[in-house]
Amino acid sequence: MQKSLLSRYYTTPEFLAREQSQIFAREWFCAGREEDLPTPGNHAVLEIAKESILVVCAPQGQLKAHYNVCRHRGSRLCEPAQDPQSPDARWDVTLPAAITANSIRCPYHQWTYNLDGELLGAPFLKDSADFRKEDFSLHPVAIDTWAGFFFLKLEKSDNEKTQPTLQSQLGPAVTRTQRYPLHDLRTAHAINYDVAANWKLILENYNECYHCGGVHPELCEVVPDFKQAGGSNLNWDDGIPHRPGAYTFTKSGTTTRAPFPGLNENEQVRHKGELCFPNLMLSLACDHVAAFVLWPQAPDRTRIVCRFLFHPSEIDKPNFNPMDAVEFWDLVNRQDWAICERVQQGIRSRVHKFGYYAPMEDPSLDIRNYIQSRLGPLPE
Ligand SMILES: [Fe+2]
Repeated sequence: MQKSLLSRYYTTPEFLAREQSQIFAREWFCAGREEDLPTPGNHAVLEIAKESILVVCAPQGQLKAHYNVCRHRGSRLCEPAQDPQSPDARWDVTLPAAITANSIRCPYHQWTYNLDGELLGAPFLKDSADFRKEDFSLHPVAIDTWAGFFFLKLEKSDNEKTQPTLQSQLGPAVTRTQRYPLHDLRTAHAINYDVAANWKLILENYNECYHCGGVHPELCEVVPDFKQAGGSNLNWDDGIPHRPGAYTFTKSGTTTRAPFPGLNENEQVRHKGELCFPNLMLSLACDHVAAFVLWPQAPDRTRIVCRFLFHPSEIDKPNFNPMDAVEFWDLVNRQDWAICERVQQGIRSRVHKFGYYAPMEDPSLDIRNYIQSRLGPLPE
């Protein structure tokens, strides 16, 4: 039996603020799919670690990311679509559209940047000794891609030489998933969940199957190993077998969709999973992938974007229907979110100083180790 992190690390704004500055602002953070922004000028406004970040598709089709802050007077350049908290929405005004296929214009004094963030022009200002356009580029954010996902890194590490690459941060997940055509997959359905639980509880829950027998009866029908011995003998490297005749995460355990091209024999009939710290959870079946991106909102609130990814050759079929996978996942997801919310409610109690991980929950220890490695030794 190992101690969990202290309960207050899941409940207090102070601890979330530490995580924001020491994890979410410093690590590569999964923020979306490349397929979301296919055309120059397509953009997304994303909030990470209390910062607003603008991700744009630049003219050559590559993604760029900038702090969503004008270099002139600091105005926010773009508002997230339909955000009722945005100043424009609150005052019931419409400020001029800011982004075109080749420029970003600040709505305040109309300073205009190209999509790479370089200042193109500022009305009535000419280049001079104290105004050189190249000194006024938007503050950049590092962006990189893997498996069709894009990741952002807000802060550079102090030492340029030890700058962690996305690949080094992802580690063995890259080779473990190499036969899955993740880059080619497309989102056929997505569900946004607003879960009243700390983001770490959701990761911990994802990392163990001790709870599966009690919480997920339907899932255990399809994957009986999940309830054997508290899920302690699961071999995730080779994949988890389904019940005889079943090979995917649907209610029947079967589907009309073909397996992804390139999978090995095990992967065609077994289930795999990956947790890519800090905020991407991948669940890999032979014909679809469920991808969960976590967006911590408050100590006790996490927004989860759950996408269902399929191969384009299946999506393009006239009778394509993703709902056998979607409906099964939605059931399992809602069971997980409900139990995570129960934990969040319980650990608020003054009597609960910390919890325990039983031996079959060992992978959950990863979260304790991960948090401590990023935040330094924590009082116990
Ligand atoms: Fe679960």
